[in-house]
Amino acid sequence: MRVVRNVAEMRALASERRRRGQAIGFVPTMGCLHEGHLSLVRLAGTRAPWVVVSIFVNPTQFGLGEDFEIYPRDLDRDCQLLEAEECDLAFAPTIPEMYTEGHRTSVSVGELSEKLCGRSRPGHFDGVTTVVLKLFNIIQPDVAVFGEKDAQQLVIIRRMVEDLNLAVEIVGAPTVRDPDGLAVSSRNRDLSPEAREHATCLFRALRRGEELFKAGERQADRMIGEMRLIVDAKPAVETDYVSVVDPVTLEDLDTIRGEALVAIAARVGGTRLIDNVRLSIGE
Ligand code: PAJ
Repeated sequence: MRVVRNVAEMRALASERRRRGQAIGFVPTMGCLHEGHLSLVRLAGTRAPWVVVSIFVNPTQFGLGEDFEIYPRDLDRDCQLLEAEECDLAFAPTIPEMYTEGHRTSVSVGELSEKLCGRSRPGHFDGVTTVVLKLFNIIQPDVAVFGEKDAQQLVIIRRMVEDLNLAVEIVGAPTVRDPDGLAVSSRNRDLSPEAREHATCLFRALRRGEELFKAGERQADRMIGEMRLIVDAKPAVETDYVSVVDPVTLEDLDTIRGEALVAIAARVGGTRLIDNVRLSIGE
């Protein structure tokens, strides 16, 4: 597997592939790779013969007081994990390569970025869309895979691709969970064993929401009330939101009529965790 650290080389290698008519699959990550990321790489491998994984801890998506400085970085370990997968190239640019002196431009998808996690992380999604668009422009992938675990991010990226006529197909990949239901995340390593136990209430609450829905409940407030009972029972869990929203507009729903996204965000022992499930009438 090749490791590329600069933009010009990445661009040249990708152009060469395209000239040969080979489709490019792409998985953007911030490294500290785990089973969730690797499942995306495998999915990309089924969609394209040449797969690029980017590893870049993107400073513009971290707010003041967030964990940019302490975000775990281990390129050697990440490359070892990717070697064992269908990854042909790891693109790990430096910050000055990605954000050249004097950079100013940013991409914003507007109000979608201000809902749910956007309320407590102002500017976060503008940082995400800006870096993802830059990566798309450098690599020009045919297919890019994102995890459904970051449901709002996926919605926003799909919107950007549609709005800006980008020639890339966006594929969502199911959330990979540990046996206790906790969604795998780089941030889980910050949880003490006790906090980790508490953190499983996010998934339990979502499962309760899903159960109610399957039993015929369609009123969002009643579902949210029941889910909150589960998360609020754990004093160590500080809930940011429990929401039932439209999966495209992210607007709060009163009644579920078709599809819904049930999303939760909470702080557990100082670590911010998110999780979600999709509900669909007729499934
Ligand atoms: P990162 O948090 O490293 O996640 C990279 C990709 O892995 C995202 O698409 C995310 O949804 C997916 N992922 C994370 N945990 C997962 C899990 N348990 N199951 C399935 N997929 C999972 O998301 C980012 O990086 C950044 O915002 C990025 C898009 C790279 C832009 O900087």
